[in-house]
Amino acid sequence: MEIKQAEFVTSAVSSDQYPKDNRTEIAFVGRSNVGKSSLINTLVNRRKLVKVSSTPGKTRLVNFFIVNNQFYFVDLPGYGYAKVSKFEKQSWGKVIETYLSNRRQLGMIILLVDCRHKPTQDDVIMYNWIRYYGYQYTIVATKIDKLKKSELVKNLKIIRETLNLGKEDKIFTFSSLKKYGKEELLDLFDQIVDCQN
Ligand code: GTP
Ligand code: MG
Repeated sequence: MEIKQAEFVTSAVSSDQYPKDNRTEIAFVGRSNVGKSSLINTLVNRRKLVKVSSTPGKTRLVNFFIVNNQFYFVDLPGYGYAKVSKFEKQSWGKVIETYLSNRRQLGMIILLVDCRHKPTQDDVIMYNWIRYYGYQYTIVATKIDKLKKSELVKNLKIIRETLNLGKEDKIFTFSSLKKYGKEELLDLFDQIVDCQN
């Protein structure tokens, strides 16, 4: 797939604010600061389509971007950021859950995990949740420019074990800094968008 065009469409907190046109959606979830917004910018070849946070926990809304006038990328709030109040954590959790729990046009969820860290309890919950609801999903390990090859191999094994991934689950690797992993993800999206339209 080649991305020729990407535009911000809308931000939403509740489902009545989501786009109503039934185009396929590809959603990005993961801990705050894992690199969701950077990954989207890298995929669409724009440095600033999505705001990248200097302070984590800035994306609090569900943001929709239309791609090639054909499907949506959906940037979800990051979870697990320690320095926010319990109330805020709950309200973000609700924003994420509202979107994920009932979205027929959601063609795939991309779950991002930082390649440097063992997945957290929140990551495990998210992964199990995605499985439970039966969405198609892909796991992406981000920021791989930060590790040596040998460390990466070791950490991918830890990620696999902690999430308890199935044998058939592949972990994609990505670096927004080095623009690594982009083509592989775009090829995957081709299949999703084709088979849903
Ligand atoms: P929230 O919106 O808070 O949930 O964060 P996010 O997941 O959207 O992360 P974001 O893309 O804003 O990136 C967080 C920080 O990580 C920024 O300082 C980025 O520059 C940095 N970052 C993102 N991707 C990479 C990467 O591939 N390599 C390196 N070295 N840094 C990255
Ligand atoms: Mg973000």
